[in-house]
Formats: sequence, structure tokens, C-alpha cells
Amino acid sequence: IPVQPFDYVVFGATGDLTRRKLIPALYYRFKDGQFDEQSRIIGVSRSKLSDADFQKVARTAISEFVDKEYQDKAVIDRFVSIFSYIVNDVSNEAGWGDLKGALREEPEVVRAFYLAVAPNLFEPIAEYLAKKKFYRRDARVVIEKPLGHDLESSMEINDGVAKIFREDQVYRIDHYLGKETVQNLLALRFANMLFEPIWNSAHIDHVQITVAETVGAGTRGYYDESGALRDMIQNHMLQLLCLVAMEPPASDDANALRDEKLKVLRSLKPITNGEVGKMTVRGQYRGISSETVSVKSYQDELPEEKKGSRTETFVAVKAEIENWRWAGVPFYLRTGKRMAKRVSEICIQFKPIPHSIFDHAEGAPRSNKLIIRLQPDEGVKLMMMIKDPGPGGMRLREVPLNLSFAQTFAERTPEAYERLLLDVVRGNQTLFMRRDELEAAWKWVDPIREAWEASTDPTQIYTAGTWGPTAAIALIERDGRTWHEDE
Ligand code: BG6
Repeated sequence: IPVQPFDYVVFGATGDLTRRKLIPALYYRFKDGQFDEQSRIIGVSRSKLSDADFQKVARTAISEFVDKEYQDKAVIDRFVSIFSYIVNDVSNEAGWGDLKGALREEPEVVRAFYLAVAPNLFEPIAEYLAKKKFYRRDARVVIEKPLGHDLESSMEINDGVAKIFREDQVYRIDHYLGKETVQNLLALRFANMLFEPIWNSAHIDHVQITVAETVGAGTRGYYDESGALRDMIQNHMLQLLCLVAMEPPASDDANALRDEKLKVLRSLKPITNGEVGKMTVRGQYRGISSETVSVKSYQDELPEEKKGSRTETFVAVKAEIENWRWAGVPFYLRTGKRMAKRVSEICIQFKPIPHSIFDHAEGAPRSNKLIIRLQPDEGVKLMMMIKDPGPGGMRLREVPLNLSFAQTFAERTPEAYERLLLDVVRGNQTLFMRRDELEAAWKWVDPIREAWEASTDPTQIYTAGTWGPTAAIALIERDGRTWHEDE
């Protein structure tokens, strides 16, 4: 079903995010017939391009970032025909007039502003939008991280946007919430009777959340200012933790869901200065060079003036949630660049059975695990004990009950931005972060960062292509547990 017609104005139209993510995502949705014929995409940026140049940018983005089998010449021609472009240096009043002719006044045409620009431009853009009368009470504004580098700077950014836009007009993207498998967490928990009664400290021993990447970080300019704690833990990983840990919301209303996530964030036990060494590990990768592989160290990827940086490319944290459901159930989070393999997954480790009747069996019962694979090879796996078939007596074996998305569903798994970009048009904020969530997350993360900065302990070095520093293994093994690794 097509969404309402829209004018999507993309500031930062020639940037990386627009080319890699926004244009391909919009193309897929267009191809699936989800655009009303009257919809328009209006690019805005400083570069002096014509409409035709911008359409060419879109064509190139599609050829580079859309799967070959979905590239359809006739569809692409129709798609780029809805693109137009306006040259505007947003911090300078002179160029703003040109937007006037591009926007339609009909109330049924949804007006959305995507600010794919640096956050210091959010406030001036918002103010010009108001001053030049492009703001409408039903307009939407989309922003994305980095939304600050700590609580204070994030509040400044939010205050800047809030001068013009109400909270219900602001769509803060955390693209993890747009991932199919992340939304599937909601279905798994709240559309099944099976899990909810045992989803608590009486039955769950601990939870692990891993987001491991094989790519490096150093050539991305912003990374050294950010580091894995701000880049991944503050947003994506804490959002995943919230979806696992939150209470069932009363409905799928955006605020009902976000209220529950907020409660989780506010229940996170603060990690104090004295505890940071015990509860967190930060690491940085060292390169490898052999006959077959050669990977640079993080340090070697940095420009001269940044050499010696202690920025972490890996973090492991033991998080605790102080409420009735989760008291005593640690959530171990780890994320890193240049890890052994690209995998994002959540592992719910259940408690051991209370009493075994299988003393004489071969193989001891192992605790159940529910493994939710977010990417790649999306799926859900329940590890359970069965009797190994055969007449040789009771032999216990751990086997997976395995749901692979690729094998079960014929459809392509949509990219996160496809869902999110159209949810903006639909006016559905469910999968976007509310301001108070963002701030609660910073409140928990800031003391960790501050303790690291104050500490003289070095960032632990790990070799590229491994699972991080040995201290990360020690972090969980001290508690008598181990990181889950798929065989
Ligand atoms: C981004 C981070 O938000 O997420 C990147 O800034 C990271 O550093 C990326 O690589 C990971 O996203 P995905 O969708 O590839 O898991």
C-alpha cells in the first residue's frame, strides 16, 4: 500500500549516508510500489549541482549499493525523475529562498526534513526552516547520531532542534531498530506465550549481546573522537538490551514502547569509578602481517597528529539492571572492529535444570540457550537437550531447534532504512529514540568514559582477527561463564 505523498528534503544530499543508505533504501521502497506518484525527493547541499547531476548521483548510488538483481532500468528512470536539487549553504541565508518553489503547500503532502549533516548544523537549519516559513506544525525532522559526545552536548543538540520542532515531530534514527531481526525480538517476546513466563531472573542466568565487525575503524575521520563506547554501546547495544529486558508494553503505541525502554535505561546500575576496571574492558586492535593477510594496526591508520590515541575499537561491559525481573542477571555486552568474524547476536542463557535424573547417562544436561542472530544469516536458534537416537541407552545431546530466515522466507530481508524512512512519512515514531531515552543512555555511559579518561590504565591491545583482548574473556570467566561462540 503506498504511503501518503511526500516531499522528502534531504540536507547533506551528496554525503556518504545519502548515497550508501538513503537513496538505495528509497529505491527499494519505490520499486515495491510504496510511493504515491506525487512523491518528491529534494536534495540540498552546498555543491553546485543541477537536478540532472543529482539524478546522476542517485543512479550511481543505486548501481553501487543496490543488489544487481533489483536494478531495473525502467524503474530507475522513473525513480530518479522524482529527484530535484537545490544548492544551499545552509548556514548562509542567501540560498534558502530556492527551497520555496520545491515544496508543495497541500496539507496531504507530508513534509519531512532529513538532516544528513553534522549536528552543529541542526539548530541553524531548524531556525532557517522556521524563519523562511518552510516549517509546518505537521512537518517532521529526522536526525541521526552522533547526537552529542556526552549528556551535556546531546542536550544542547536536542535543545537546538526543540527550539522549532516539538518532540513528536523529531525522528531520531538508531538504524538498529530498523533491522528486521531487531523488530523480530518484539514478535518473539510478545507474540508467543512460551518465553514470557521464564523471561526473568528465576530462569535466566545471564544475557550476552555481541556486535562484532571485521572492518577496521581508523580511516573514518570521526571514529577517533568517538570510540566504540559512544559509537556502538551508547546507542545500538543499549537499544538491544532494552528490547530484551523491557516489560511488555500495553500496546504498540510509540510512547508505550519507549516508556518501557526508558525504564530499563533508568534501571541500569551505574558503573562507578572504582568499579570500571572490573566491569569494563576497552581494547584497540594491533595489525597482523603474514604471507596471506596483512591488516594495519589502528594506530597505523591514524593521521600523524592522532598517533598514540587511546581510543577504544573494542568494548566489553558487564551491565546490571536493578529491578525485580533482572536482579542478579548480568548482561554482558561486547562490540569491536577487526574481530574474528562479522556477527551480531543475542544469547539468552537459561539456568541449569534444578535436579538431574541422568546421572547414569552419557553426557550431562547443558543449560538451554536461545540465540537470536541479528546478522548475517538471520535466525533464531534454541539449543536444547535430546536423547541421541539409538538403542545404546540414554545418551544426551545438545541440538539446535533452528529457524533460518533465509531458508524459511523467500523474501529479501529489507534494509533498516527502508522501514525507518517510510515510518517517518507514516508518522510512526515507534522505532525512533525519544529524547529522554537518549539522555538516559548518556547518563549511564558518561561515567564509564570519564573513569577511563581519568585512569592511567592503558587500552588493552588485541590482535586483529581475534575476539578482543584477553581481559574481555577474563571479564566473563571470572563469573564462571564463557562467551557464546557458534560452532
Ligand atoms: C554505525 C557505526 O552506527 O553502525 C559504525 O557508526 C558501525 O561504526 C555500524 O560500523 C554498524 O552497522 P551495521 O548495520 O553494519 O551492523
